[in-house]
Amino acid sequence: MTARTLALAYDEETVTFRIEGQTGWGAPSVLLDHDDDLTAGRPWSAQGYTVEPFLHPHEYQRLVDGIRTLLVRRIASADLPVPADFSMERYHDTVATDEAHTHVSAQGPWCLPLADLPVPVEAISQRISEILGVRVSVTPPHREFPEHFCFRVVRPRSRDNNPPHRDVWLDRLRHAVNIYVPLAGSSPRSSLPVVTGSHRWAESEIERTLDGAQVNGISFTVPSVVGAAYPMTLTRPDPKANEVLVFSPYLIHGGAFNQQTDCTRVSLEMRFWRIPQA
Ligand SMILES: [Fe+2]
Repeated sequence: MTARTLALAYDEETVTFRIEGQTGWGAPSVLLDHDDDLTAGRPWSAQGYTVEPFLHPHEYQRLVDGIRTLLVRRIASADLPVPADFSMERYHDTVATDEAHTHVSAQGPWCLPLADLPVPVEAISQRISEILGVRVSVTPPHREFPEHFCFRVVRPRSRDNNPPHRDVWLDRLRHAVNIYVPLAGSSPRSSLPVVTGSHRWAESEIERTLDGAQVNGISFTVPSVVGAAYPMTLTRPDPKANEVLVFSPYLIHGGAFNQQTDCTRVSLEMRFWRIPQA
């Protein structure tokens, strides 16, 4: 087992990762050349992401309130007391230890069926279709896995986030477009980072972990990026309340450390695919 320390440059700071296990470089091909590029033809296609206005204000508020309710239920089902004035930004006060957070996480997955989504999924898929100029839905091609949405809770100064990666190293996540929606505590020091333009990098230009590798002692489903042929600066596009970050899953993203000292970040994350022509 080999171990190394990786220093990643963010816009304003450097964060180090400890990588254990085998790493390697891929084949000299660009995955997106062979797949459905849902960013094609958009003014932001070359950078691989855009930040746009999201929903009607009352729908966005319904979404925030609904996710807060889901989170309160989750904490309560872990037998922890929830204050009447609970706010998602203060999650780390209510769930105050790593053990308590592990217990809350064990109450169920952070990705849920669409029936639990607090707003109609059509409102979101229509808005994303407008942004892309392509009709998309949450239904994956060949229906490899159930339609779902995810909400993420990243405590301040924690290891709750995953390392930088490309989703599309898992075949079932190819051909899609992703969204990140801030719900609470999302800021230039906590929101999802991306590497601008990296969706066009060849596999041979990226070094990544192979099977069984661990980052900071934790195993992840998706391999982690550990190096590249280009400078790899992570930028946080930082969408504001009721804005959406739409980004290519071929883009290197992740490593969303919450560098805030006293504010939990909560976000909604979903994927969309082109609706096939009848
Ligand atoms: Fe991802």
